[in-house]
Amino acid sequence: MTKKAQTYVVGNFKGGVGKSTTVQMLSFESAYHKKRKTLVIDLDPQGNTSTTLALTAENFGNADLPTEPDGFDNTIWEAVQNENIMDSIYNILPNLDLIPANISFSDFPDYMIEKFPGNKLLQFQYIEKLFEPLKEIYDVIYIDVPPTISTYSNAAMYVAEYVIVILQTQVKSLKGAQNYIDYMNFFIEQYGTDLEVVGIIPFMMQKRDSVDQEIYEAAREIYGDHLLQTVVLNQSRLKRYDGSGITFEINKNGKTEQWDRRAHEVFIKVLEEIDEHRILLTGEE
Ligand SMILES: Nc1ncnc2c1ncn2[C@@H]1O[C@H](COP(=O)(O)OP(=O)(O)OP(=O)(O)O)[C@@H](O)[C@H]1O
Ligand SMILES: [Mg+2]
Repeated sequence: MTKKAQTYVVGNFKGGVGKSTTVQMLSFESAYHKKRKTLVIDLDPQGNTSTTLALTAENFGNADLPTEPDGFDNTIWEAVQNENIMDSIYNILPNLDLIPANISFSDFPDYMIEKFPGNKLLQFQYIEKLFEPLKEIYDVIYIDVPPTISTYSNAAMYVAEYVIVILQTQVKSLKGAQNYIDYMNFFIEQYGTDLEVVGIIPFMMQKRDSVDQEIYEAAREIYGDHLLQTVVLNQSRLKRYDGSGITFEINKNGKTEQWDRRAHEVFIKVLEEIDEHRILLTGEE
């Protein structure tokens, strides 16, 4: 039986809102807790997700990976140039693989323009064809992109079926996610592709205070049922994972260390809500 991976891109055209954290955590929960065969494709030359997942591999006893993005011999960039994606797959944990990126991928937009001058659709179709074999191998694919409208984010929109939008719930930036959704709708029309918003995750990076509930309600007015009930609060443990990789530590008494448990619990809930939304959209389990 061939698989047809559900493919998600995590988006927002603002930097530092939690896109990469979401890709890292959802892919971890998908593989570790749900036992789904999961792939992360890093399309961001910053390589943050590649670094965090390589460190995560080390935490779980897989010491074969470089801990700096520059250390990967085969990245998404080699895959694009050689038309061979399979050689750029690295195993992180059981059920979790990574196609890494590093700064060399900065040449990607120029390369694509040279290869397909004046025809963006051909550029996107090239990437779609490159990724095709992956869809037969994995249950789920998460794509991490930089925070700009660019060849990276466009290619991701073209190959993905579902979009997860990050919403920063601050009074001033409540509508921030709307720019992304508006552009997405334009893109769908322009290039005749299918893409559905499968969930909007509220991130409340500020400390919780009395106006939070009001802000959440206001966001609900704007985004309706797309808005998840699970709110991702500020958790310093998530920040720590940037430098330590993801951890899931078991205490002497056999219980998971409480800050790890909190960080994982919230993203397991996010994953489950997104599953529910997807099933409602498609009718498929
Ligand atoms: N809920 C949270 N609590 C605390 N820190 C967080 C939380 N979510 C993300 N962070 C931290 O905020 C920083 C930015 O997050 P992240 O890298 O995920 O954003 P991004 O949207 O991918 O940024 P970029 O646009 O640069 O790709 C990181 O240091 C991350 O660890
Ligand atoms: Mg990022």
